[in-house]
Order: sequence, then structure tokens, then C-alpha cells
Amino acid sequence: MTTKRLLKGGTLITASETFEADVLIVGERIAAIGRDLTAPDAEVLDVSGKFLMPGGIDPHTHFDLPMFGTVSSDDHYTGTKAAAFGGTTTVLDFVPLDHPTLEASIRAWRAKADPKVAVDYGLHMNITRWDQAIYEEMARLPEWGIATIKVFMAYNGRLRLQDGEIFQAMRRARELGLLTMLHAENGDVIEVLVEEALAQGHTEPVWHARTRPAWGAVEAALRGAALAAQADAALYIVHMNTAGEVDMLRYAREQGLPVMGETCPQYLFFTEEHLARPDGAKWVCSPPMRTEEDNLALWEGLAQDVIQVVGTDHCPFFFDGTRPILYEGQPVAIPGKELGKDDFTKIPNGVPGVGDRLPILWTKGVVEGPLTPNQFVALTSTNPAKIFGLYPKKGALVPGADADIVVWDPDLKVTYGVRVAQHRTDYNLYEGWELTGFPVKVFLRGHLIVDEGRWLGRPGLGRFLHRTGYGVV
Ligand code: URP
Ligand code: ZN
Ligand code: ZN
Repeated sequence: MTTKRLLKGGTLITASETFEADVLIVGERIAAIGRDLTAPDAEVLDVSGKFLMPGGIDPHTHFDLPMFGTVSSDDHYTGTKAAAFGGTTTVLDFVPLDHPTLEASIRAWRAKADPKVAVDYGLHMNITRWDQAIYEEMARLPEWGIATIKVFMAYNGRLRLQDGEIFQAMRRARELGLLTMLHAENGDVIEVLVEEALAQGHTEPVWHARTRPAWGAVEAALRGAALAAQADAALYIVHMNTAGEVDMLRYAREQGLPVMGETCPQYLFFTEEHLARPDGAKWVCSPPMRTEEDNLALWEGLAQDVIQVVGTDHCPFFFDGTRPILYEGQPVAIPGKELGKDDFTKIPNGVPGVGDRLPILWTKGVVEGPLTPNQFVALTSTNPAKIFGLYPKKGALVPGADADIVVWDPDLKVTYGVRVAQHRTDYNLYEGWELTGFPVKVFLRGHLIVDEGRWLGRPGLGRFLHRTGYGVV
């Protein structure tokens, strides 16, 4: 029997409007939105005093990602469960090119992810080798439901392509109707600085940041925009972290180029100083945290619509992977940041965040910061849906859309941290932060998967999202 639910008396927040209305969910879709709706056979839920927003879309996650002899500690189940608790109902995860072909790499990733995902998910393809075979096989990405590639200007000898190769990949992407995503740092400068730092005996986590200068990100962002312009291609710059990148993005957009940008919460709040703490390895990710001026410029970029998306780059590792935590009642320990205790280059890169994103951005961005609730929805749901070819099935509260709905209590006070966040790791970057506003119910395609802190979801409830195009916002 088809489930019908009527959410009565809530305030809907979309990317452009705020209004009071009831929402009727029939099966997996939103069937109607309006005042004083009635549906005699529906279960009625009173959501008065609550905000209803489209489920969050995090376009940047790395679940179960092998790195430096270990693996990111959230897999496609634990990571998507954490996402759901934080109000996110869609994630886009990256496929590493770890097999001889794109097809084999995608098949292997889907074989891991499909049975585990607890929210809907899509994939981006990392293009980390460039040859004729990759050029040709890229034509099949839309057939496999992948409309986005990521290329890297850093990680020499591992993931990086040369500029000429990036240019060719962008041109091929444009030809095929794919969007290119760019990791903007200067790999050559990083290589020189890392070698020098190690030769001088600098092994502490803060040297991770000191060997990856902001100027490298700035010039790489502009270089990426220029390469994309010459390839007549659209570009999405991931994990923007520095003021100069915001300036470069603004400049590119002022030229009318289809260049878009994403930042992540960690770049809005933390600085290189955090990496200098005794537990600095917790903050090691690439690109690194910068300065307070950079934090501020990124906030301005969001408030002024220069930056279109807040993702997370969720890629968690245990701080101390020798000490088990209890996860769903079972002890779990996964080697983590301690692998680099004697050498910052061996600290697995990445931080947790998929579940933190909405609650942290709401309190710090909307309640205490410069964002309107509508900008919050645009940055965390509607813009990613439009850019990544999911709109209006996702990212919208309209009849016919998937009933991915977050019921948000704007008055709920939460002392946040590792005990509240549901990530499978032993720390949280926002430990002890006082938050106002939190998701209390989360619907994925009409299924109530989080209810007042209770987990009602399950592995495999999420579906693969077959994407064939992209948008420019
Ligand atoms: O430190 C990070 N961000 N790890 C994930 C890889 C990437 O470049 O996004
Ligand atoms: Zn990256
Ligand atoms: Zn990433």
C-alpha cells in the first residue's frame, strides 16, 4: 500500500521563498503543497513551529577511500547514515581511477557502495591518468550515469595531470556534455617545499599547511579558469580555501565564464594555527586551513553569491586508530592520523564533516552569520542539485520532486561534538560548539529515516542517481 503523509503547519524554506504551507507526501514523491490541505487516508504529522527544507545535497564525499595504507573510516553505510542525521539525503562520491579502465573502477566502486548506501548517491570520476584509452572511454561516462570528472593540479606522482592534459580533459568533457571539477593547488611548489621541510627535520602537522602555500591555490584557480576558457568548458573549483581564490572566481565570473566554486565548513572556521596544536593532525586535509582573513573572505564569497556551493570533502580518519570506538555497539578501530606521528607527509589527508555541514552552517551562517535561510538552502541543496543535474527531482520542494525533506527545529539547542555527530571516527572538529537549530525528522523519498534522534534507515535504502548532464548557476 502506498504510504501517505501530510506534514501540517510548517514553514517551507526554499532557495527563493519562505512561506507557510502543508506538504502531502504520497509514496516517494511530494504530491501537493498548499494551505489547509486535507487527505483523509494520510498519516498527519504536526510540524508547526518547524522549518521544512529540501534534503541537503553534499556533492563532495570520500567514503571508504584507500589512502596512505589505510582507508577513510566512514564507508558508504556509516557515512550516509551520518549524512542523514545531519539532514543530508543525497551525496556525490568520487571514484578513484584504481583499475586499468574507467569501467572497472566504476564497477568496483558501485559494488562497494550500492548495497551500503542509506541515502541517495551519485558518482564523480577522478581522471588521474591521461592517454588515448581514457580519452575514448570518457564517452561512456553518461551511459554509466556519471556527468562529472575531477582533475588535480596537485599530488605529484599520484593523482596530478599536467596542464596540457587538464586542457585536453576539459575539452573532451565539454564535447561530451560533462562538467570538470578542479583541485586547485600548485603540485610542483608543494613538492619542492615538502622536500626542503623534511630535509630540515620539520615533521610536525603544521608543516602540512606550510608546504602548501595559499598562492599556489590562487594561481591554480585562475589557471584552471583560463584553461577552461580556452577549452570552452564549464568549470567547478572544489574545496576553495583562500581569499585570493574568491577573487579569481569573482574575476572569472565577471568575464562571463561558466566557472563555479565550492567551499567547505572547515575553511570557514579554522586556520593554520589549529594544525600547530598538539592534536594538529586532526585538521590535516588538502588543501589546508589558512588564516582568519581567508575565513572572512570565504564568508563574503558565500554571502555575495560569488561561491555557489558548500560541500564537505568528507574524508575522515581516526585521530588515534589504535583505540577502538563503539559503533552500533561494536568496537571499531581503523588506522588513522597516528600513521604520520613522525612525518607530516604520512598523515592521511582529510577531515569528517558530512553530518556537521547543515547544523554548523545554520548556526554560524544563518543564526549568527551573514546568510539568509534561503541562501542556506541554495548553497547546501538547490545549487548543487542544479549544477550536478539533479534538479528539480532533488533540491526542490515542489509537487513531483522526491520527498527528500528535512524538518528543522529552529529553537533546538544542541551541544555538538563527536557524541552527537554520527561519523565513524573518534573526534569532531566542532567539539563543544553550542548550536541553535537542528534537524529533527529526515525523509528520504518519503521514508522517515531519522526521527528525533532515532535511526530508522538501513543500508541499501539509498539509490544510485544516474546523472547525464550538468547546469551552470
Ligand atoms: O584532504 C582531503 N581533502 N582528502 C581528499 C582528497 C581531495 O583532494 O579532495
Ligand atoms: Zn581535492
Ligand atoms: Zn575531496
